[in-house]
Amino acid sequence: MSSSTSSSTHAYVSDPAPGTNRSPARPALPSSAGQLSLDGEWRFRLADSLEDVTADLGDPGLDDSRWDVIEVPSCWQMLGRPDEPRYGAPAYTNIRYPFPVDPPFVPEENPTGEYRRTFEVPAAFLADGRCLIRFEGVDSAFAVWCNGERIGDGKGSRLPTEFDLTPVLRAGTNQLAVRVHQWSSGSYLEDQDMWWVSGIFRSVRLLHRPSGGIDDVFVHADFDHESGLGRLRVDAPAGARLTCQELGLDSVDPAGPYELAVEPWTAETPRLYSLTIANDVERVEVRTGFRTIRIDDGQLLVNGVPVLLQGVNRHEWDPVTGRTLSEETMRRDIELMKQHNINAVRTSHYPPDARFLDLCDEYGLWVIDECDVETHGFVMNGWRHNPSDDPAWRDAYLDRMQRMVERDKNHPSIVFWSLGNESDTGANLAAMSEWTRRRDPGRPIHYEGNRECDYVDVYSKMYDPIDFVERVALGIDPPTDDPANDARRRSLPYLLVEYAHAMGNGPGGLAEYQALFDSHRRLIGGFIWEWIDHGVVLRQQTGPNAGQTYYGYGGDFGEPLHDRNFIADGLVLPDRTPSPALADYAQVIAPVRIVVDAGIVEVRSRLAFADTSHLAFRYYISDDGIDVQAGDLAVPAVAPGATVRVPMPTIELPPARSERWIRVEAVLADKTTWAPAGHRLAFGETQLTDVPVPQRPISTLPPPPTRRDPGSADRPFSIGPAEFDTRGRLVRLSGHAVSLVPDLWRATIDNDMYAGGQAVPTVWEPLGLHRLRHRVSHLSVDGDQLFVIIRSAGAATDQLIDTSLVWTAEADRLRLQTRFDLVGPWAGTIPRLGLRLSVPAAWNELTWFGLGPHETYADTRSGAWTSRFRASVDELQTPYTRPQENGQRSLVRHLELAADGTPALRIDADSPISVTYRPWSTEALEAARHTADLVPDPDRNWLHLDWAQHGVGSAACGPGVLPTHALTTNQVANAGFTLTFHPLTN
Ligand code: GAL
Repeated sequence: MSSSTSSSTHAYVSDPAPGTNRSPARPALPSSAGQLSLDGEWRFRLADSLEDVTADLGDPGLDDSRWDVIEVPSCWQMLGRPDEPRYGAPAYTNIRYPFPVDPPFVPEENPTGEYRRTFEVPAAFLADGRCLIRFEGVDSAFAVWCNGERIGDGKGSRLPTEFDLTPVLRAGTNQLAVRVHQWSSGSYLEDQDMWWVSGIFRSVRLLHRPSGGIDDVFVHADFDHESGLGRLRVDAPAGARLTCQELGLDSVDPAGPYELAVEPWTAETPRLYSLTIANDVERVEVRTGFRTIRIDDGQLLVNGVPVLLQGVNRHEWDPVTGRTLSEETMRRDIELMKQHNINAVRTSHYPPDARFLDLCDEYGLWVIDECDVETHGFVMNGWRHNPSDDPAWRDAYLDRMQRMVERDKNHPSIVFWSLGNESDTGANLAAMSEWTRRRDPGRPIHYEGNRECDYVDVYSKMYDPIDFVERVALGIDPPTDDPANDARRRSLPYLLVEYAHAMGNGPGGLAEYQALFDSHRRLIGGFIWEWIDHGVVLRQQTGPNAGQTYYGYGGDFGEPLHDRNFIADGLVLPDRTPSPALADYAQVIAPVRIVVDAGIVEVRSRLAFADTSHLAFRYYISDDGIDVQAGDLAVPAVAPGATVRVPMPTIELPPARSERWIRVEAVLADKTTWAPAGHRLAFGETQLTDVPVPQRPISTLPPPPTRRDPGSADRPFSIGPAEFDTRGRLVRLSGHAVSLVPDLWRATIDNDMYAGGQAVPTVWEPLGLHRLRHRVSHLSVDGDQLFVIIRSAGAATDQLIDTSLVWTAEADRLRLQTRFDLVGPWAGTIPRLGLRLSVPAAWNELTWFGLGPHETYADTRSGAWTSRFRASVDELQTPYTRPQENGQRSLVRHLELAADGTPALRIDADSPISVTYRPWSTEALEAARHTADLVPDPDRNWLHLDWAQHGVGSAACGPGVLPTHALTTNQVANAGFTLTFHPLTN
């Protein structure tokens, strides 16, 4: 069946040319013309290399009956996962090409998928006109045969390609064959930070194009904010007529232009109008929205109003199907975004499935539509031979831009065309920009790599730290290299097209960025990197969790070159469960800011177009975290950007004995397309009582004595409900085995171990904080009081920590006063400071009064509020794709452990502490590579009671923990807290 086909047969694979015999680029509009889906079952065979392909692939007589049958669209490396992977495996590299950089050539070991199927052409298709076959996405290069004729070939994976099959089609059964190569010259332009997967991964259709049909239209629907009128004109073939009942247009000349009373389209008010453009042979439908986009005086104006982009970078990914997404998954993404106040999406780093843009129009999101161009891997070689400035690649660049713009030009949601990502700079990018400006003057152009801003309309950057962003805002940032460009760049808006790298636990510091965006007009916002962890579903084969599914990342597929879990850096986990960071972001970018102060509830709108009549307000008053009064709060509709103040609700309660809080929530008054009525979008809270809530408690104990007596009791002893060994170490509480040691370490989070994309040893490694050894350096007993000092340090260092513990019996309770003193030349930061207890695993629930419901760290607290929360130990864990420190609850004043609802132990803190409760130790968490490696300890749970923990920051890519959220060693003087243990069971 296979033979060595001459290398010239495959010459197109390594030719930079974008394709042969393709039809001109255009959108596929919903139409009255006939179409036939070619999705579904295809015969398939995978050849390992070009040597092994089927010589007569296109031959209708070829017997393919013993070939496999697969579903199209799909990515062949994903088929059969997790249990029976069938064709190779995905591979992950971030920047590096997984093949030698020898453009435009690619290796002969070039996995090549061969697809065949037959189809019946309806007779009407052949009666007149043409029949086009349309591929919405094929990765990466492909050639097409129909009825034995080679039709053409194409590249540009995330872009549509059409071929004219008319000359070869016949009535009855037709034979189609497609050969798809994993690697091609096109791969050099598709070096995005994502899995390398291949195949016909988007839909395929046969489209009847009646002669004289409407192949293309370009709708220009502007909105004049001064007159309040829409202006409509449509480029359409001569003789076509335009109808829009709603606008009173009935079979009019599409060229117009028409001045019309319309409601404008915005991401907040996504008003669409259905247009029909028809002639005698065809009718096409376009949904349009009226809006005008302008860059003016350093701002992005839509309909004359400055817009702040609160966005997210979205790759297309599904852990089972890879880059082939169902419409349901696309809707899920958008609904989650809307539910979390996200108003913008950058289609990083390629045009998405076209249906996604339909949904953005419909639900309302500002879109940066990005072209399928990234040559990042050339940076590894100093950008030598980068295609971006090489005339040999000009057609390929231009072709990609043209295909994107022609496909997507009618989407009102698109506010920027983006030339691509991380391809340095060069004439080919400038040419893309120039062509686009001519074709669509209505949209500004984005590209982050054009630092000089001589061919873009926005000053776009990635991962700049706060202080740099502030300098830009104040106009004191460094000038462009070429002074001629400086004034222009300073006149452009500044956009952080990527910031806050959501890898693992984090990003921290969102609130600080948003405060800047909110207060400087030149800053038009940013896009979090990124939406989803691109995990690949796998199944654990051995051990106690055998059979459990988990999500793989780089290196899990034997890739010789890979970038580990840098692929897992999203706001949602691979199964689209929101990570705590999404809740944090939602509140940081909430549509209203709610402040309760001095008897007044202030509601400030952050919306640009809509008033707040879609919101209802509810208040909750709680005493010590328990709701004691709740009700509706009447807030008049707040105009965009305006502030309204209403009196606080009357409190019909006796004076509070402890902490009394009020929380006011803004929820959806009615259900929308993306969330049910009552869905919370924002909250504000304040304490009504005068109980201080310090961030960092101070120890009430004096410093430890300078002369230490190691001491020893001659027998184990007890104080109240607690039993200690002869060395003064806690061993039992009310008869339950427990233990307690000082702890300064956390399971390394991605932001601790990566810097600018590279894995580096944490700064804490030399201190040995992950392998502390402990010694009781003082022990004295005085009646019902025990005084212990534990001295701890890692091997080979004289940086020591003394933990003083004073245990006092108080009736059936036990009081523990603590104090932490660093001894020796400490400097810099430490990950955590506190106590780690082990307790019976049967205590499987935690109730706490503090911040919740989800995890919080010093710099990720915005989305959490003060209340009493309850969760099982399982629910307390955040299953980050690569296991790491997680699950902390902050500002905890009381906590209670219970066994299946039966209270076991209550702990009161004299001032707020941080609490982490888990079914495995920090060591086990650190050792785990995947979630399925984590096995609960059979009889122990681990309770961390921390004085503080270092913030999480965004150092994996971007700035680290801000000084205000750092745990520095010089803060440790007088650190400590007092706990009261109330054993509740025996
Ligand atoms: C950026 C890049 C993204 C992603 C990110 C790190 O430089 O544009 O695609 O790689 O870094 O996760």
